[in-house]
Amino acid sequence: MSFDLSVFSNKNIILAVTGGIAAYKSAILVRRLKDYGFNVRVVMTHGAQAFITPLTFQALSGNSVHTELLDPEAEAGMGHIELARWADLVLVAPASCDTIAKFAAGLADDLLSTLYLATKAPVWVAPAMNQQMWAAKPTQRNLNTLVEDGVHVIMPEAGSQACGDVGLGRMPEPEDLAEQVKNYFHQAQRAIAEKFGLLAGKRVVITAGPTREAIDPVRYISNHSTGKMGFAIAAACYSAGAKVTLLAGPVSLDTPNGVRRINVSSAIKMLDESMHQLEEGCDVFIATAAVADYRVAEVAEHKIKKAGDELNVSLVKNPDIVATIAQQSKRPFMVGFAAETRNVEEYAAGKLVAKKLDMIACNDVSRADIGFASDQNAMTVFFAEQYQMEKRDLEKASKQEIAQQLVEAIHDALNHKIEPV
Ligand code: C5P
Repeated sequence: MSFDLSVFSNKNIILAVTGGIAAYKSAILVRRLKDYGFNVRVVMTHGAQAFITPLTFQALSGNSVHTELLDPEAEAGMGHIELARWADLVLVAPASCDTIAKFAAGLADDLLSTLYLATKAPVWVAPAMNQQMWAAKPTQRNLNTLVEDGVHVIMPEAGSQACGDVGLGRMPEPEDLAEQVKNYFHQAQRAIAEKFGLLAGKRVVITAGPTREAIDPVRYISNHSTGKMGFAIAAACYSAGAKVTLLAGPVSLDTPNGVRRINVSSAIKMLDESMHQLEEGCDVFIATAAVADYRVAEVAEHKIKKAGDELNVSLVKNPDIVATIAQQSKRPFMVGFAAETRNVEEYAAGKLVAKKLDMIACNDVSRADIGFASDQNAMTVFFAEQYQMEKRDLEKASKQEIAQQLVEAIHDALNHKIEPV
């Protein structure tokens, strides 16, 4: 699964490292959290500094490391109260017995224990310790107290330990911890999007990529569509709170996070699946696929052998998927695309009417800097006459930004009072 890193660029994580051999894993944890786009600040206890230096974390996090409670210099930069407010999540990994006991008792005699009391952010602890210390009654008692106080305790894993023992007490791998953090924020964002997003409560179906029309068992007719625009729109619709199904032709792209992907190959299969989706319920249908206009009349059962200087293959017209869906009695809001090399706006406006669309986005594929394989695009959006909405020019931008603007256009049209034609 791919992930849009910018999603978490406004999320702040305090990674608190306490004394334990697992502290070395926290260095990798910082890297993974940064990979996901989080802002990371590291707090270290004195015990942690016996295992790993603040300089390591400073280099990895790109921020100075916080170690002292009442160091005037540090407090002048970001004091413990500001640090507590800055955090969207405090992750203590590894969490030593001592830190867990301090949290449970409500002590405030160093930076981390004070921070714990001063923050409103969720606090997660990932205990890591010798298996006997983990099992010890005071540790379990303290952990129960933390759970009662609303702390999320990440269970340690079982296995061989640095001290030679075998049992529970290993800190989970940094990749796992980073993923749990990502999932937490992702679910929180999703919950907000499902309630307040521009497409909250809508079911969106998107066709994307090329289709592949078989000639024989080993050959086919297709085109250069990469599917990037359709995939970017799927991601944007999901971020806007929609339930998204992506009917993807053969492309080599990762499925956007949270999107249901159904791979199809030919135009006929894409149409079948589109009709099926319509039956399941669809509020918005977005046709970005570069559907092959023609398919081979009769697909050869066996590989066609080389013979003679010419080969004639008879082609028949493929169904127009978007136009077919637009003709259905319970039709969704229909969005089409037009890729043209000349008279772009004129052709697009014609297709809007001919295919009975509600909205069409058109671009000039003769421009080398946008369209097809490019990561950028520029478009003009037209709305059907009954919407009485002005056309919109979407200036050249990344396909992600264009997708976001298309979502806004769809939202605006859906919420626009339609005038009878
Ligand atoms: O007619 P043209 O291919 O230019 O129309 C482009 C629009 O129609 C796009 O939205 C495309 O996904 C859709 N289309 C379709 N089925 C076809 C051909 C085009 O859904 N057979």
